[in-house]
Amino acid sequence: MGQEEKNAVNAVVNSNILFLQPYLTKLSHNVRHCIKRKENLLIAAFEDEQMLGCCMIVEMDPRKARLRQMAVLNNLQGKGIGRALIQFAENLARDHGYRIMSMHARKPTVPFFEKMGYKISGDEFIEITIPHYEMIKEL
Ligand SMILES: CC(C)(COP(=O)(O)OP(=O)(O)OC[C@H]1O[C@@H](n2cnc3c(N)ncnc32)[C@H](O)[C@@H]1OP(=O)(O)O)[C@@H](O)C(=O)NCCC(=O)NCCS
Repeated sequence: MGQEEKNAVNAVVNSNILFLQPYLTKLSHNVRHCIKRKENLLIAAFEDEQMLGCCMIVEMDPRKARLRQMAVLNNLQGKGIGRALIQFAENLARDHGYRIMSMHARKPTVPFFEKMGYKISGDEFIEITIPHYEMIKEL
């Protein structure tokens, strides 16, 4: 595991996660839902105790959430983990009453999010030196 992944795992482990058992039963990819703070929902895909990928839902307003910090381990990309994470995140967001999911997608990942039903909204912009697009999906 590289330093970046170790940092991600430590961030999750140190954030006082409560694994919610009811959500485990709904899943095919062993994606677990973790609560950190009430306004943020952390989601991670695990195999045994290894975290394979993660993402976060942040409330923008009571109807709109933002998907953040989505990442799958480099050597496990392209195996359906990203799809499982995003589908789980969308279901969880719906359960919390959100009707719109938005995100700032890095330009090379736009085709992935388009496959997941997201549409570009607005012009390209630079965030942390990387070209991004805002993308939106009705839940
Ligand atoms: C983007 C990311 C989360 C996708 O996760 P993943 O586990 O590799 O994606 P999946 O395997 O679930 O892919 C689902 C589908 O999208 C496609 N896809 C995945 N990444 C893609 C990309 N960059 N461009 C085009 N298609 C892509 C897959 O081929 C697959 O298509 P299929 O169902 O027709 O076979 C992952 O590549 C990643 O962590 N990238 C680095 C971090 C990053 O850029 N995060 C996004 C920040 S905005």
